[in-house]
Amino acid sequence: MAAPLRLGIAGLGTVGAEVVRLIESEGRTLAARCGRSVRVTVVTARSKAKKRGIDLKGIAWANSPLELANSPDIDCLVELIGGAGEPALSAIETALKSGKSVVTANKALIAKHGVRLAQAAEKHGGALNFEAAVGAAIPIIKTLREGLAATGINRVYGILNGTCNYILTRMEEEGLSFAECLKDAQRLGYAEANPSFDVDGHDTAQKLAILASLAFGTKVAESAVYVEGISSIAPEDLRAAADLGYRVKLLGVAVRTAKGIEQRVHPTMVPKSSSIAQVMGVTNAVTIDGEGIPPITLVGPGAGGAATASAVLADIADIARGVRVNPFGRPVDRLRVIRLMARDLAGTAATIATRLAEQKISIESIVQRHPNGGVDAGRSGGKAAPVPVLLITYATSEDAVYRALQAVQRDKVISGRPQVIRIEKN
Ligand SMILES: NC(=O)c1ccc[n+]([C@@H]2O[C@H](COP(=O)([O-])OP(=O)(O)OC[C@H]3O[C@@H](n4cnc5c(N)ncnc54)[C@H](OP(=O)(O)O)[C@@H]3O)[C@@H](O)[C@H]2O)c1
Repeated sequence: MAAPLRLGIAGLGTVGAEVVRLIESEGRTLAARCGRSVRVTVVTARSKAKKRGIDLKGIAWANSPLELANSPDIDCLVELIGGAGEPALSAIETALKSGKSVVTANKALIAKHGVRLAQAAEKHGGALNFEAAVGAAIPIIKTLREGLAATGINRVYGILNGTCNYILTRMEEEGLSFAECLKDAQRLGYAEANPSFDVDGHDTAQKLAILASLAFGTKVAESAVYVEGISSIAPEDLRAAADLGYRVKLLGVAVRTAKGIEQRVHPTMVPKSSSIAQVMGVTNAVTIDGEGIPPITLVGPGAGGAATASAVLADIADIARGVRVNPFGRPVDRLRVIRLMARDLAGTAATIATRLAEQKISIESIVQRHPNGGVDAGRSGGKAAPVPVLLITYATSEDAVYRALQAVQRDKVISGRPQVIRIEKN
């Protein structure tokens, strides 16, 4: 059997402690499935003294997440601290830059710094797996990234926050107010003391941004999502929806439109007969509308220590097996050459530059090929006959390139269809 995969776990709270427990109880199964055992070698948390109900005998303690990330005794960092910034960000970046793999459940960090971290993973050859960041035990990341790798996606939508769905379910079933149901959710541990992150839709927005990136190749960015929460929903709204044959759910929706990819989170009426309408309480669900296939709906627990740890372990299993997929299913920062025939060079260069800039695509260089075979870099002339132009661009998504070129075609400054060729770095 191959050498064990050595794990460093940062964060031993609800999820981290459960991961340690699960590795202990499911270690044999995991080793049999992966052909390699998995061992926790180093851990860290804020307090070393805290009683956690887990056996840490024989496991080294690192004094900080950064020290853990730098440890020569781990092959893979498992980040279960949380938060969009430090110390999780530096720890993950450090581990990736030293060629280690990373598993995280941290949606806030991936929604904010996913592109930067994916670039580091791709450059240094480690994996960056974050299945638990969206829908906990629901294997939605793997489904989009691998299961549907060859399927065009038109829409992804879902119930991505258990707290909101619990509140809406109670409001509908018992005719209670939003405030009463929120109080119950807090009492039962389904809602935080400060619930606004959940009920105002921001948690859903972070998860949606990650799903949209996987489905459509958009650059993961929470700021691209329109967000509206559920706090203004009243029992009357739910009764009115029911009279019309609907149920109200807080949905995160990412959809391909003629104008580009739309990402939004808001209370939505869904037909009572739909799969998503059947999802009640803290349960999560995601529906994928793929090209040429009926919708696929995945339903399951979207939170909780055990459910989240199961997804974390699945990511660890992939690393133990040597399975490595680009974090967002495609390289995040690929150089492309775009070849097109410019009608009028003087005007065309400016128009193309504007259209690319609108999609946040930066141009590394423009090369004009003269009809006589000569090459002229970065200058524009003024002839009316179509002239070949090569643009070398950096782009973070296929869709951005597609949208920019569609706009250039509508501008009628080029003849024929542009050709896009990707450049493989290294
Ligand atoms: N809980 C869920 O149901 C769930 C579901 C999906 C995803 N997630 C994600 O999983 C991650 C962990 O969540 P959780 O619920 O397990 O959180 P948690 O219970 O609050 O645990 C956080 C852990 O991180 C440690 N920590 C905090 N700040 C630290 C620092 N500066 N240095 C070192 N350690 C530090 C804490 O140490 P101490 O224990 O010593 O305080 C604790 O062990 C988050 O990204 C969360 O979004 C959670």
